[in-house]
Amino acid sequence: MLAICQVDEKQLWDGLMSFRRLGRDHKGGITRLALSPEDMKARGRLLEYMKDAGLEVRVDEVGNIIGRLEGKVPDAPAVIAGSHIDTVINGGPFDGSLGVIGAVEAVRALIKAGISMTHPIEVISFQDEEGVRFGSGYTGSKGMFGKISRETLGLKDDQGITYKEAYEQAGFIPADFHKAARAPEDIKAYIEMHIEQSRQLEEQQLSVGVVKDIQGPLWLQVNIKGMADHAGATPMTIRSDAALAMAEVMLEVEAAASEEGGVGTVGKLKVFPDGINIIPGEAAFSIDFRHTITAKRDRMLSRVKQCFQEQEKKRGVHIEYQITKQVEPASCSEEIRKVIADSCVSAGLPVYEMNCGAGHDALILGEYVPFGMIFVRSRQGISHHPDEWSDEADCVNGANVLLETIRTLAE
Ligand code: GLV
Ligand code: MN
Ligand code: MN
Repeated sequence: MLAICQVDEKQLWDGLMSFRRLGRDHKGGITRLALSPEDMKARGRLLEYMKDAGLEVRVDEVGNIIGRLEGKVPDAPAVIAGSHIDTVINGGPFDGSLGVIGAVEAVRALIKAGISMTHPIEVISFQDEEGVRFGSGYTGSKGMFGKISRETLGLKDDQGITYKEAYEQAGFIPADFHKAARAPEDIKAYIEMHIEQSRQLEEQQLSVGVVKDIQGPLWLQVNIKGMADHAGATPMTIRSDAALAMAEVMLEVEAAASEEGGVGTVGKLKVFPDGINIIPGEAAFSIDFRHTITAKRDRMLSRVKQCFQEQEKKRGVHIEYQITKQVEPASCSEEIRKVIADSCVSAGLPVYEMNCGAGHDALILGEYVPFGMIFVRSRQGISHHPDEWSDEADCVNGANVLLETIRTLAE
């Protein structure tokens, strides 16, 4: 059966391009770190954008922006669609924004077509999905289930501002966070449309994919203390070089991830005092491990912990680490996958099931409610980079699949 209504292509594309202009950085990308002035500006714009589409808009206590369309049955559980509008440093225009703008446009089309639903529909832009500023992430989706920890609020950004302080500066009251918590029974389903950020759809020459399993991320912040000393006068044999210990850990991250069939990245690293003729006395860096199987990801973690001990012995350094994010891998609900697959057919698209490498708020929602994800082709799979791109026709296809999925679930 053909879909009953479709998104307005121009409105979707114009919407995406208008958010692309917010938070433009000097390297041609987009930088809207959570709760930064650039993010706050985009959030303000989204409130207006949702209202314009006909949604009842509110911001919850943890900063999620929620646009709601009431259904015919009061108190029926809501069908939620969403993603995020915060970005990484020097990111691209589609990661997150596509899921939010696409969902707003899907609901706008339903409203315009005068189709009323049994269930309410909500579009949510989750606060701080990326986690770049404080090394954590999924804060809004966690907060929606009362799961923002004291440790998370104590994390600091590069300016030494704690997460709690950043929230307060943005006008939020951490003591009220519990008020954002929602009962899982009040949510029927969560659907996230997102760019693929990899190359499978491109290789298959497909516009849209149906997600099956999502890798779970495990993030560590590691600090190595050695001994800073003179680069010319200190013999190699008596050094405690923190950067060399870091380098060996980095190679172990690569080996562990490759051998376990997962991925491992050290993306943020600093050495101190950072001088050409000084042996690094301290090194601070992040590790991002991901796998679709928790046991294998645990083995990757054990291997680096073992490596920490070896480096302490070998180089006389002291290593401390903190786990700043640990989210289990998740599988999309079979029923929702079926609804998405049927929606692909309604949109005249082939059904293609695939796994997901990147992390999404869906991982958190998936702990509490049935969820599904729709993927849209990414050019060369590039993402978290200014060259991130998805063609208009693919975004429109994805949004139409999202529309039909929401309509079916909320019917
Ligand atoms: C978010 O984009 C992540 O996967 O790190
Ligand atoms: Mn991202
Ligand atoms: Mn994203």
